[in-house]
Amino acid sequence: MAEPLLRVEGVVKRFGGFQALSGVSRHVEAGERFGLIGPNGSGKTTLINCISGTLRNESGRIVFKGHDVTALAAHQRTRRGIARTFQIPRPFTGMTVLENLRVTLEYAALDRAAPGDGIAESMDILRLVGLDAKADITSSRLTQIEMRKLELARAMAAKPSLLISDEAMAGLSSSEVDDLLAILFRLNETGTTVIMIEHIMRAVMRFSQRIAVLDAGEKIAEGSPAAIVGDAAVEKAYLGE
Ligand SMILES: Nc1ncnc2c1ncn2[C@@H]1O[C@H](COP(=O)(O)OP(=O)(O)OP(=O)(O)O)[C@@H](O)[C@H]1O
Ligand SMILES: [Mg+2]
Repeated sequence: MAEPLLRVEGVVKRFGGFQALSGVSRHVEAGERFGLIGPNGSGKTTLINCISGTLRNESGRIVFKGHDVTALAAHQRTRRGIARTFQIPRPFTGMTVLENLRVTLEYAALDRAAPGDGIAESMDILRLVGLDAKADITSSRLTQIEMRKLELARAMAAKPSLLISDEAMAGLSSSEVDDLLAILFRLNETGTTVIMIEHIMRAVMRFSQRIAVLDAGEKIAEGSPAAIVGDAAVEKAYLGE
């Protein structure tokens, strides 16, 4: 068997006396579209924070492309190919959309040869998410869907092999959800592995080839969307007793 792109091994994360992750193990294959779901507070974002390096886990390992990255800082993991969006978008609000991308590119490209001013490359990414017409707008003036697209574009600027989307669709209309889904499908078709965290079941079920379910910091189920829908433990986690 080929080495999976990402292996999460026994990850434990505590906040003071509270254990947010109780030894989560998962793997994600290269090229896969992987869904991560679970009730509010089940530890989805915490797990993503441990994978991306935003948080350090107390025990367990994160193995990416066969290398243990557990000790690496977030920016080092970004350069190795792990990019994520934040549940609450974090653009540089005083900058234009284009400037946001250029800054991110410059930062991401530190150790690869990227000549030029980054404008053409930035515009290419903005075109992929459908924001090219907004390039010169100050990012604080974007609508919610545009803000989500910019957040995705900034993650894409790192040219990741793994992109993790943390509830990029919350609060969007049905057609806006379809719009973001199409972007993520296209990204995946060009070879990027995608982990989607999402409460919008229609979206995550359609997108994912495999879904893992977290409840109270533990994996309670994993399988195809069809298997997850029919899983009694999952139903109980969402609906209570
Ligand atoms: N920095 C922190 N300090 C203390 N507790 C935290 C911190 N971050 C998360 N938690 C707690 O850890 C648990 C898991 O939170 P997390 O944000 O990972 O959940 P989630 O599954 O992403 O939820 P949601 O679907 O609402 O985004 C929650 O009980 C949360 O209150
Ligand atoms: Mg979350």
